[in-house]
Amino acid sequence: MKSIIIYTTRYGCTAEVARRIQKELGDECTIIDIKKESVPLLDTFDTVILGGSIYIGKVQKEMTLFCTTNLEQLLTKKIGLYISAGAQTQEECYKELLGAFPSELHAHATTKNVLGYAFSFDKMRFFDKLIMKKIKGNAVNTATYFEERIAQFAKGITAGTTYNETSQAF
Ligand SMILES: Cc1cc2nc3c(=O)[nH]c(=O)nc-3n(C[C@H](O)[C@H](O)[C@H](O)COP(=O)(O)O)c2cc1C
Repeated sequence: MKSIIIYTTRYGCTAEVARRIQKELGDECTIIDIKKESVPLLDTFDTVILGGSIYIGKVQKEMTLFCTTNLEQLLTKKIGLYISAGAQTQEECYKELLGAFPSELHAHATTKNVLGYAFSFDKMRFFDKLIMKKIKGNAVNTATYFEERIAQFAKGITAGTTYNETSQAF
């Protein structure tokens, strides 16, 4: 199985999740940050994993653009979708995941989940820091990676099992 993880991130959490999925999947997995690198031709990959992070209810516009531009080809691949999101309830997490990718991709994807969240105050832009400090009530750096879900996500992608079987949260 030749796979590629294509992600967007602001402060690195989604990149770290990508590296952890890659570790589970092995060497045949390429990682691309679409804000920094150009995406190779998708023809050679049978599996595409798309990851993004959520800011004020939205995934990065580069991810949305990539999904809509390449939708037709993506629908011919085995697809996994994940986000990093700080939403605290299962319901909110599900809403963020659902809103992050086009409905056609959701219907097609075999594996999807929220795989972690991090608040990196030392890296944050002024306004992000201000908003987050107000919401959290402190400015302490934290990072949570859902190891079990990441392992199950990778297993689900490899086996091509369905959404319900592979997702703990949803
Ligand atoms: C200014 C700001 C707004 C955010 N808005 C949301 C949000 O609407 N929903 C959510 O679930 N998480 C939200 N988050 C949490 C981020 O999604 C989370 O920190 C994520 O891990 C960031 O990943 P990244 O470092 O890959 O960009 C927000 C974080 C910041 C700093």
